[in-house]
Amino acid sequence: MRAVIAGSGSEIARNCVTNEALSRIMDTTDAWIRERSGVETRYYIDAGQKTSDLAVAAGQKALEHAGVAPSEVDLVVSATMTPDHFFPGNGGIIQTRLGIPAVPCFDIRQQCSGFIYGLGLVDAYLRTGMARTALLVGADVHSGFMPWREGSYRRLAGDVDAPLADGEWEVNSESRHLSVLFGDAASAVVVKAGDEGGRGVIDHILRADGADATKLCVPGIGFKHRPYVSAEQVEKHQYVPFMDGRYVFKMATTRMAEVAVELLTRNHLTVGDVKMVLMHQANKRINEYVQKMLELPDEKVIHNIHKYGNTTAATIPLLWDEAVRTGRIVPGDLVLMVAFGAGMTWGATLVRA
Ligand code: COA
Repeated sequence: MRAVIAGSGSEIARNCVTNEALSRIMDTTDAWIRERSGVETRYYIDAGQKTSDLAVAAGQKALEHAGVAPSEVDLVVSATMTPDHFFPGNGGIIQTRLGIPAVPCFDIRQQCSGFIYGLGLVDAYLRTGMARTALLVGADVHSGFMPWREGSYRRLAGDVDAPLADGEWEVNSESRHLSVLFGDAASAVVVKAGDEGGRGVIDHILRADGADATKLCVPGIGFKHRPYVSAEQVEKHQYVPFMDGRYVFKMATTRMAEVAVELLTRNHLTVGDVKMVLMHQANKRINEYVQKMLELPDEKVIHNIHKYGNTTAATIPLLWDEAVRTGRIVPGDLVLMVAFGAGMTWGATLVRA
């Protein structure tokens, strides 16, 4: 038995935010963002919306696409670094809102590698017969990390002259290397146990190294502090992620290329055998580097970072969903997925569509 991706669906947050709109609330420019990251637009949820809202909508579409009823699902895996609550996780919230029976629901926290890790977990359950039909959702909402206030949101929404509070511009600019990269979205796949024509997950490699955990992390708001959240941490904006951008860039290019080659080699394959490579969308320059290192022709690589930015656990299923719905991936195609994220975590998966 293999884990066959039987359907997919995505939900992008409603509000489109251009680079030009961001330049109304912080010291940045469209040219800088495009040149350094490839991002042109990203989408943010409305105030009051939650990660689970996007996750449930994506899950619903994936179930419909697969022709699977909620009652048939016997495993839910939610990959998110931005759950609705510190605890519990979103797995059970997705399960109950979709009308799925009281089956095992996991929440996993591997950030930008969340989907690859989730698919590994689903694959293990399906191969061993512990489940037959899984719903795997990658969903993240990054806008909530930002220290932006009412005036900033009004400007982003088009009120270009909305007043900013004292110091708001400076505070927004402090996290500009980070905030311009990310967007809010969810994407889900339904994965069924099957044994037709070699379809399904063929192999995967998952890796982690916690030595670099603090190179990309939320420095405050956690149980290394007592209490785990304090007014001081909030005042110092320690709920905003810290990122050593250059270091992360270097590690992402190295690890993604390395793990892709390792996985292909141990399956006696080359990039020539692969129809499409779906890379996590963190920075277009990272992926262009990896593409070059793997000597991949343009037609084997799809990007959508220009539209959505980095949506962490949602990036790879978003690419999959778009490629399947536009006919760029058809049943029988060999697809390589590669990701790198905070943790540090990384991995690659080979799937026959
Ligand atoms: N607008 C304008 N200028 C900005 C800016 C922004 N949004 N963000 C940073 N800058 C400035 C810096 O302050 C710096 O100015 P200085 O030269 O006067 O000091 C300059 O641009 C260069 O900054 P640097 O951080 O060296 O740029 P970079 O080329 O490394 O690009 C990232 C920054 C964040 C885009 C890049 O490092 C990156 O993508 N890293 C990986 C991030 C990632 O993938 N994260 C998710 C992991 S899964």
